[in-house]
Amino acid sequence: MGIKRRFGIFITLEGGEGSGKTTQIHRLAQYFRSAGYPVLATKEPGGTVSGRSMRSILLKNTTDPIDSKCELFLYLADRAQHIAEVVKPALKAGKVVICDRHADATVAYQAFGRELNVKFIATLNRFATGGLKPALTLLLDQPPEVGLARCRKRASMNRLDREELAFHRRVRQGYRELARSEPDRIRVINAKLDPDKVQAAIQRHAQRFLKQYLH
Ligand SMILES: Nc1ncnc2c1ncn2[C@@H]1O[C@H](COP(=O)(O)OP(=O)(O)OP(=O)(O)O)[C@@H](O)[C@H]1O
Ligand SMILES: [Mg+2]
Repeated sequence: MGIKRRFGIFITLEGGEGSGKTTQIHRLAQYFRSAGYPVLATKEPGGTVSGRSMRSILLKNTTDPIDSKCELFLYLADRAQHIAEVVKPALKAGKVVICDRHADATVAYQAFGRELNVKFIATLNRFATGGLKPALTLLLDQPPEVGLARCRKRASMNRLDREELAFHRRVRQGYRELARSEPDRIRVINAKLDPDKVQAAIQRHAQRFLKQYLH
């Protein structure tokens, strides 16, 4: 660990509403920093100035309808800007970039949740990212009821928290199918456990990944 690298490492955290991504990302960033890595923790949507405007349209708690295609393009627009402005430069500078949600979320939410075409979305994701893919994705998996109950306890609900349960079940299924199709990249973590145990599992996967990646 702590080796000087010419290119950074791109890691993403994924999972349904309230699965613990935001709780865990800061601790994972700290773990890498303690090991001597320069780290950038970021998120989609909302990792850039224009992205924050898009995030507010996408997630603000309102009953105003947003068409599924409009929603899809806003996520992709946010991603294209974020990759160009934040992620690529940080990777070039040799950083470990840890991102709270990324392209897999669009497959899970827009293709499975909103039932748009999976292959078309994969193509659009490749276009938005310029083909850049995470080296490691940590999927915080749990039944959606658990995460939604957590979100209801939170002060602020967002537009997606209020979607019907069937939508969130499709999202979970989408994530799990992605994990089955790319088991080397996507590691599934039981997100029902308490936060310390979830973090321990995340760090075990990160350690295993680094061992393989650096040798
Ligand atoms: N393992 C856990 N057990 C119990 N509660 C948790 C756990 N992890 C996080 N929480 C709580 O659940 C709520 C949602 O957590 P968090 O915001 O980290 O999830 P998230 O995946 O980022 O959600 P979102 O998809 O809405 O961004 C918070 O109130 C947090 O304190
Ligand atoms: Mg979050």
